[in-house]
Order: sequence, then C-alpha cells, then structure tokens
Amino acid sequence: MKFFIDTANLAQIKEAQELGVLDGVTTNPSLMAKEGITGRNNILKHYVDICNIVDGDVSAEVISTDFASMVKEGEELAELHEQIVVKVPMIKDGVKAIKYFSNKGIRTNCTLVFSVGQALLAAKAGATYVSPFIGRLDDISTDGLNLISDIRLVYDNYQFETQILAASVRHTMHVIDCAKLGSDVITGPLSAIEGLLKHPLTDSGLAKFLEDYNKGN
Ligand code: E4P
Repeated sequence: MKFFIDTANLAQIKEAQELGVLDGVTTNPSLMAKEGITGRNNILKHYVDICNIVDGDVSAEVISTDFASMVKEGEELAELHEQIVVKVPMIKDGVKAIKYFSNKGIRTNCTLVFSVGQALLAAKAGATYVSPFIGRLDDISTDGLNLISDIRLVYDNYQFETQILAASVRHTMHVIDCAKLGSDVITGPLSAIEGLLKHPLTDSGLAKFLEDYNKGN
C-alpha cells in the first residue's frame, strides 16, 4: 500500500519524506492557494520543488475543463518532471483527456470521483490512479469506505490496472480501513499517517524498559 500526503506545504512534505514511508504527494488548486502559491509560473515552480523533495509520484491538477486545453496543460505539466502525474477531473472532456494521455504514456490521476460508475469510466479510459473522495462522502452522510470496497470489487472483476487512490482521507482510521479494503494508495494529512504510530502500551512499555535499564546503570 502506498502512502501519499495531501498537501502543497513543503515543510510537511519534507517531514513526511524524512519519516521514510512516503510514496508520493497529491495537490489540488485549493491546497496550492492555501500555501499562497498563485500565478502559473509560481505554481509550476512549486510542483518542481515538491518533486525535488519526494521520491515518488506528484499529482498536479489541470484547471482547464475542455479537452483541447486539458491536453495542452497536461502535457506542459508532464514535461515539468518525470514524477508528475496529471490530475484530471471526472468530467466528459476529462475522460477523453485521460484516454489521450494514456495513449501517449502520460500518467494520470482521475480526481473528484464519487461513484463506482465514475471509477469504471476512469479505468476504461486508462487512468493510472482513480481518486474517490471518501471524507467528502462521509461529510454528506454517505459511507465513503463503501465506495472503496465497491471499486475494489469492480476493478478485480475485470483486472483493471488503475490504482485506487483513496483521497480526502481525514484521519488514521480511514487509513486502516482503506488498507483492510485493499485500497492501493491513501492520500491525507501527515497526522493521519503519524496516528498509526500511537499506542499507549508502546509508550508505557518503553517507559518501563528505560526505567529498568536505568536501575542497573
Ligand atoms: C485528492 O487528491 C484531494 O486533493 C483531497 O484528498 C481532497 O481532500 P479534502 O476533501 O480533505 O479537501
């Protein structure tokens, strides 16, 4: 299972990379804006800065919504760095663009996926990753994890190679549940990954080991 971090914050990406378990980064226009990264040139430079920190895939999202512009923008993003994966929204022209990129060997992440049908289309078009947003489904009282489970079933039925990238992961239990359901990747905040570290018996056990060691020294 791959761990991606969902941020455009360079300090957090460095911290996650140093932990040694990071496989990639996802960004989106909102995450870029949150870091104050605006203007095309600054945004493109920021993607390269992220690629230079992390060993792994970096999703860079197109902002165009028509086929021709998506293709132009996606090709420009893909040329920035070999680690770039072009993130394309699940809309009709997006599906066409994913197919185009797939034929050209450009890797894609189909984003804003909220149904099995959308995930099926993304896989048929040849997406490298599909991003079901589980947290946003939970937000509207719809079980996001069910979607992961359903997509896993459909992809396994037909041996689709598209990787399920559980997105909008909000907390550590999402990570664990996605792992149980066979999600290929999760992307979320660093806190969701670091939460996996925590257990009170580890803390009390370590305290006792150190106490006993110190008795004899
Ligand atoms: C996915 O790639 C998105 O960037 C992200 O996971 C959205 O998460 P949010 O619902 O917490 O904004």
